[in-house]
Amino acid sequence: MEILLAKSAGFCFGVQRAVDTAYKHADEKNVYTYGQIIHNEEVVGDLAKHGVKILEDDELDQIKDSKVIIRSHGAEKRVYDILEKNGNEIIDATCPFVKKIHNIVMDECGKGHTVIIIGDGKHPEVKGIMGWCMSEPVVIGTEEEAEKFVQSCLNGEYKPSENISIVSQTTFNYRKFHNVVDIIRNKLYNVTAYKTICNATSVRQREAQEIASKVDAMIVIGGRNSSNTQKLYEISKKECENTYYIQTLVDLDLTTFESVSRVGITAGASTPNKLIKEVHGRMDEMNFAELLENDESRGSIK
Ligand code: F3S
Repeated sequence: MEILLAKSAGFCFGVQRAVDTAYKHADEKNVYTYGQIIHNEEVVGDLAKHGVKILEDDELDQIKDSKVIIRSHGAEKRVYDILEKNGNEIIDATCPFVKKIHNIVMDECGKGHTVIIIGDGKHPEVKGIMGWCMSEPVVIGTEEEAEKFVQSCLNGEYKPSENISIVSQTTFNYRKFHNVVDIIRNKLYNVTAYKTICNATSVRQREAQEIASKVDAMIVIGGRNSSNTQKLYEISKKECENTYYIQTLVDLDLTTFESVSRVGITAGASTPNKLIKEVHGRMDEMNFAELLENDESRGSIK
């Protein structure tokens, strides 16, 4: 079996930076991360062993004089305000690419523009971006929602400002982003779209698509809640029907790959290298076992 491993699989720059920051402050007194530092139980569990606690949103007001690490997704402005008010030290590991979006929406709101965020409104990154808007932004997740939004503007239900500024969640699908922007641009005036999809994401998505189109089976590794892993799964599944989404090695059913001659492996931005290596190693072992079996059937093993 030939194994094609995506070069871009695993931690992106922003996640690596946030995880390194958390480890740098591990074993210090009163250290928290605002939410899980990444969507990976193993890393979160290991940090917990080193005293790094998770601060949930409803506990924000309850801590004082502590260190709080903001993860790569970023957080709303109110989170900073509450923490600072209570004398906490904020260690900001917001990915610079996400921070850039915070700055764009602040500027655009300051100019009185209507801000549209293309992304999943429930995702922490999008919630964070919304939290830096000084006027109520519009969140659009699909082409259908874009059509509805345009319709509501045309029939006067929603009154946008004279200028509309669009940003996107960093992990949003590239093609879908363009479709949504086109729908809005075709019917409304003065629309500026900022390309804020992270390069790491588009490289990863392109590579996943390329590999999935060449293999008989594809493995996508990542946490269930990881939006960028889910996107990789969707993209791969379109190209390769036999695409499997696994969180850890335990989910890997080797019998599925018995008659596969070429398998692809990719992983989300919050998947540790160790896990990718384990999965790769297990597929390699399968190759080795196959070799032994073939040799045994030829009688060459004594
Ligand atoms: Fe940052 Fe891009 Fe990763 S926005 S957190 S480098 S996916």
